[in-house]
Amino acid sequence: MCGIVGYTGNHQAAPILLDGLAKLEYRGYDSAGLAVRDGSKLAEVVKATGKLYRLADKTDQGRSLPGTCGIGHTRWATHGDPSMINAHPHVSGNCSGSGSGAVESDVVGVHNGIIENFAELKEKLLHHGYVFYSDTDTEVVVKLVDYYYKKYKIGPIDAITRTMVRVRGSYALALMFRDYPGEVFAARKDSPLIIGTADDASYLASDVPAILKYTRSVYYIDNLQVARVAPGSVKFYDLNGDEVSLPLTEITWDAAAAEKGGYEHFMLKEIHEQPTAVRDTVNSLVKEGRVDLSAVGLTEEIIRSLTQIDIVACGSAWHVGMAAQYVIEDLVGIPVRVELASEFRYRSLPIGEGTLVIVISQSGETADSLAALRVAKERGALTLAIVNVIGSTIAREADHVLYTLAGPEIAVATTKAYSAQLVAMDALAVEMARVRGTITADQFGRLLEELSAIPDKIRRILEDKERIQWFSSKIANAHDIFFIGRGLDYAISLEGSLKMKEISYIHSEAYAAGELKHGTISLIENGTLVIGVLTQSRLFEKTISNMAECKSRGAYLMGITTNGNFSVEDSVNFTVYIPKTDEHFVSSLAVVPLQLLGYYTSINHGLDVDKPRNLAKSVTVE
Ligand code: M6R
Repeated sequence: MCGIVGYTGNHQAAPILLDGLAKLEYRGYDSAGLAVRDGSKLAEVVKATGKLYRLADKTDQGRSLPGTCGIGHTRWATHGDPSMINAHPHVSGNCSGSGSGAVESDVVGVHNGIIENFAELKEKLLHHGYVFYSDTDTEVVVKLVDYYYKKYKIGPIDAITRTMVRVRGSYALALMFRDYPGEVFAARKDSPLIIGTADDASYLASDVPAILKYTRSVYYIDNLQVARVAPGSVKFYDLNGDEVSLPLTEITWDAAAAEKGGYEHFMLKEIHEQPTAVRDTVNSLVKEGRVDLSAVGLTEEIIRSLTQIDIVACGSAWHVGMAAQYVIEDLVGIPVRVELASEFRYRSLPIGEGTLVIVISQSGETADSLAALRVAKERGALTLAIVNVIGSTIAREADHVLYTLAGPEIAVATTKAYSAQLVAMDALAVEMARVRGTITADQFGRLLEELSAIPDKIRRILEDKERIQWFSSKIANAHDIFFIGRGLDYAISLEGSLKMKEISYIHSEAYAAGELKHGTISLIENGTLVIGVLTQSRLFEKTISNMAECKSRGAYLMGITTNGNFSVEDSVNFTVYIPKTDEHFVSSLAVVPLQLLGYYTSINHGLDVDKPRNLAKSVTVE
């Protein structure tokens, strides 16, 4: 939800800022802007609506904006429509806010997050003579900083900390002050922000890939901290204005991991990276015939003490929870509830002793998931985060963290992170079952072997992707698609449906196959596409019957089933086979054709697969 960048050093800032924003465009892409300072001259601001290339064109790829210190922003609108006046950077002075040029302002800033009490603060500032040009909460924050800066005259750190005490909500802020050329000031609460240093330069960004080309040494600034960023040096302060020291972290993953690497889209690349993402995640947990949770800190004693598991997440991560629910209940026998984080946070679910709340999140920054984690902790639950982004807020705040090793995921529609989360949950379930004695040693060994074989089976599915590509061209004109299945197949249907609708904009729904007849079947008419997931042997006949009910009402049927189930072809129009595996782990395989179907359908419609409309990669607002 918005990406911010900053740079100060000896090189021209604008091309570096544009380059960083290009890596963050997955976070928002309805407008973008830069503010750059040339020595002690006033900051020059340039904004453009639409995708980032329009800002790059407007600034001649940054060449028309001289200066070695600057900040930049790519926006996903929250307050105010996606227009020029609402685009960042925002300034403290009085201006039209609409365009480009040198700004007569003491403070210029960019912001990722949401200020909840912005209306009340705006009233206060109006009262003090400030005039507003935009509808954004960001302009209010920038003007509030300016207000304290002028009122107390003790400098930027003090003005920022006073502002932080006054605002409610989330923010990663980057600010430049007219009196402090060559420096950028940053502050953070609940929105991601990292700061990198190299010999003669410093960088800040919402995410590591934005600066990885320039440095691998980064600081993860903490909640409620402020940074003073100068060329090659960074100082951190707490809310009292006292200097604090933070550890410097060395990023070990490859910059190429965040590039398209020859694929047309990040999503297709990330679909193909699934064998690696799954293998790396499984290998980090399964070692020499054991599941090693020592890095996670979940001891056998904790596992034995559990009486209830609540899984909380959003979107695809919630679908992982839905799948894990069936696996854990079947293998371990512990009751599992799966809740949408946005609902969990406002419910009064009783959380008793022995409850483990598992929060699943790729980004580790999703606002609803973070709030749910905090609620769970307040109510005394033990918490475990399954997170992909190292050092993210959810990872830092949970009692225990299990990192998935999917690497950076750029496409808005998740694929490899989802798959890594699935196997992480599977490994956890198998270990819980071993510790609690609900499976035999033989079963344990076999399940681990099956888990380790999944990456190769995903690779085999990908080798046959052209069949899906062909089928997607046949269904490209579909208006409604229904995904149905029972048990684990229902969990897979949920993910298949989300993949389809979020990137192809075709209406689709996932239904528990047995539920369809309770109302929704009235929507089935001639040619409606119904995709049945048929991987659970004991539920196979039941779902086939539900599909037959759809066919007799005119539906066109596709089935996904396990190799060998050839009888499916008697009932459906198009069949996709996946390799055999233990049925608990089948989601990892069955989801792949559905990801490909969504991808190719989006391509057939000529859509922007990696950046679908109205969405952003990590949703850091409520
Ligand atoms: O970063 P998170 O895993 O917490 O994100 C959760 C959802 O926003 C995310 O899975 C979303 O549904 C994706 N667009 C699905 O492809």
